[in-house]
Amino acid sequence: MKAVVYKNKNQVAVEEVENPRIEHPSDAVVRVTSAGICGSDLHMYDGRTDISSGTVFGHEIMGVIDDVGQAVVSLKKGDRVVLPFNISCGFCFNCIRGYTNACLTTNPEKPSAAYGYAGMGPYRGGQAEYVRVPFADFNATKLPGEAGDAFEDDFLLLSDVFPTGYHATELAQVGPGKTVAIFGAGPVGLLAAHSAIIKGASEVYVVDRSEERLAIAEKIGAFPVNFEDGSPAEQIITMRKNNKMLVESFKPGEEKMMGVMCGIDAVGYQAHSIKQPDKEDPLSVINELAKVVNFTGHIGIVGVYMPQDPGAVSEQVKKGIYALPFGLIFDKGITIGTGQTPVKKYIEQLKHLIIAGKAKPGMIVSQHTAIEDAPRAYTMFDFRGIGDGEEYTKVIINP
Ligand SMILES: NC(=O)c1ccc[n+]([C@@H]2O[C@H](COP(=O)([O-])OP(=O)(O)OC[C@H]3O[C@@H](n4cnc5c(N)ncnc54)[C@H](O)[C@@H]3O)[C@@H](O)[C@H]2O)c1
Ligand SMILES: [Zn+2]
Ligand SMILES: [Zn+2]
Repeated sequence: MKAVVYKNKNQVAVEEVENPRIEHPSDAVVRVTSAGICGSDLHMYDGRTDISSGTVFGHEIMGVIDDVGQAVVSLKKGDRVVLPFNISCGFCFNCIRGYTNACLTTNPEKPSAAYGYAGMGPYRGGQAEYVRVPFADFNATKLPGEAGDAFEDDFLLLSDVFPTGYHATELAQVGPGKTVAIFGAGPVGLLAAHSAIIKGASEVYVVDRSEERLAIAEKIGAFPVNFEDGSPAEQIITMRKNNKMLVESFKPGEEKMMGVMCGIDAVGYQAHSIKQPDKEDPLSVINELAKVVNFTGHIGIVGVYMPQDPGAVSEQVKKGIYALPFGLIFDKGITIGTGQTPVKKYIEQLKHLIIAGKAKPGMIVSQHTAIEDAPRAYTMFDFRGIGDGEEYTKVIINP
């Protein structure tokens, strides 16, 4: 079968690899109909992990069951499914408590496994014609409809970026009437904005420098903030201060809460500097969040930070040591939630929001591509909204 294989920094290729097969009675094999390219794949593509050449990429996968092992009881050939990017067992100490992002069974090296990802176990990715699904009863979510119908993109995004955007809003404690600042208007940031609005947030600000991506944020119902125009924290505080009705509603002292209650980092360690946007500054987002989140507020960090980063800008960050503005965070009594999304925790509810027509995550999909053209899609998506050519916000490979 054909698969997208990592070769070297900034180079993937489409190669023939062996078809997957049932290796354990609880496995299934899925014929892939859609596979997303994720901002997380770009960390590997950019040479910012220790991924080895030859790895099949792809952790955002949906398709149709092609074969099941003898122990699989809830799925049969022909069922339409989407796969949470975490590969989990469902019975370990962490899975039982809902933390399928830290499954203790599926990765021999450490807690946490995924398809086709650095440090996440020996599993091949799904940017391929077929993929093997371990513990299939637990790791495949059943879908209505038929492959390629009007919901294909919406359902595919249940594998990662929609639950991840939603998870960010949970970590940041977004709810009705809350004020929210989201950094990053990539797929994750945009779907965090979509989730915040579904949850009834009163004001949602989305920060990026890609005008195309900010335009999508605005369409979703958020206020766009371009960080090339100066400190996003200051821009948001100024916008709020200019809101006459809001300011008139304050009792004395409440003007000390001109930031927001909820902050979200949907950028991660490859963040660009606010002052010099063409340079990398891994702390730029957290520094701005510490400024813009009010006393007693909450921050959700779903943008990835790595314990080792061979391509980091400083020796400290190469070792995963980041100099946080911790004094300010402590002084404000801000709580911070971090980490990989436990997709299983949210996938059923988010599926039902899509079926009920209350969520439309597929609106962020900008391109579909044949698997043969995946290398070009990687090149284009890697511009992250600031290339010269066509904007690639979210690309889906249809093998
Ligand atoms: N926690 C999880 O389980 C999980 C799951 C999926 C993705 N992620 C991570 O989420 C992050 C975003 O993913 P994506 O697919 O949206 O990626 P992306 O690379 O397409 O988007 C990142 C966006 O951030 C913008 N950006 C860069 N510096 C910025 C700054 N200082 N302020 C504001 N915006 C800035 C870029 O212009 C870009 O549009 C990545 O780090 C990815 O690895 C985490
Ligand atoms: Zn992903
Ligand atoms: Zn487990």
